[in-house]
Order: sequence, then C-alpha cells, then structure tokens
Amino acid sequence: MMDKKVAGLLNDQINKELYSAYLYLDMANFYSSKGLDGFANWYEIQAKEEQDHAMLMYKYLHNNDQDVTLEAIAKPDKEFKELMDPLTAALAHEQYVTSLINTIYDAACEAKDHRTMQFLDWFVKEQGEEEANSSGLIRKMELFGGDAKALYMLNSELAGRVYSAPSLQL
Ligand code: FEO
Repeated sequence: MMDKKVAGLLNDQINKELYSAYLYLDMANFYSSKGLDGFANWYEIQAKEEQDHAMLMYKYLHNNDQDVTLEAIAKPDKEFKELMDPLTAALAHEQYVTSLINTIYDAACEAKDHRTMQFLDWFVKEQGEEEANSSGLIRKMELFGGDAKALYMLNSELAGRVYSAPSLQL
C-alpha cells in the first residue's frame, strides 16, 4: 500500500503539471499574437509534454491502486510584455517544478517507497533537461533577440521542434 503522503503529493502534482501545460499554452498564445509562430510551436509542444507528465502520474497512481482526485486548474497569471518575459518565467517555473519533484522524492525516500523513487528518477532527469532548455533559450534570446534577422532565424529553428511521446512508458 502506498504511503498516504506520497500518494497525496503525486495527486497534487497532477494538478501542477496540468497547470504547467496551461501556462505554456498561454506562452504559445502570447508568441502567436506577436507573429512568432516558431516560439509558439515550441511552447505548444511544451504544453503537450506537461500533459504527458500529468498522465504518467495519473496512471502510476491507478496502477498502484490509488484513487485520483482532479482539482480545478488555476488560470495562468503571468503577464508578458517583452519577448523575453515568457522565457524567464518558464525557467523560474521549471525551477519551481524541480523543487516539487524533489519534495515528492524526499517523501518517497522517507517512506522507503523504492518503487516511487524509481518512477520519479525519470522526472528528476527530465527536470534537468527542462531547466537546461529554458536557460538555453534565454541565452539565445540575449544573444540574438535584438537583431530582426537573427530573431527570424531563431523563430525558424524553434518552428522545427517536433513532439515526441515521453520515453517513460507505464
Ligand atoms: Fe512537468 Fe516542465 O515539468
């Protein structure tokens, strides 16, 4: 039987991941309104990945005979004015999500729940990648965002991102 605290934290995390999807969709929304379809594509795919994260947790809880409670998803509340704003908000958000995953990991460790620790290993690695991607985008924008031609190229690069299902299958 899964530890109640661990199950509760995983249940909460489903909501946090769905909020992340909603937040990233709002970033895509912002870039679409600015005519930057490549940036919009990047964040639309990011939103899909967050839905995948939520579904992995949802399925994991069900596979372990846990009930799932779905709560309301909060409205994205970040305000974007400059093209850089979603990029810095995304990095701050991923750092926050990393702290949430670490908290669940710590609870699983305390409960000696090795199965959940192994399940979360994938998320720990994923958070490292997501933070690196977010920092990388900020760096590129710092370098190239001030030049129209370079921004056009960066937008074209981001338009090439394609969705792929998560490597973790349950
Ligand atoms: Fe599901 Fe971007 O962390």
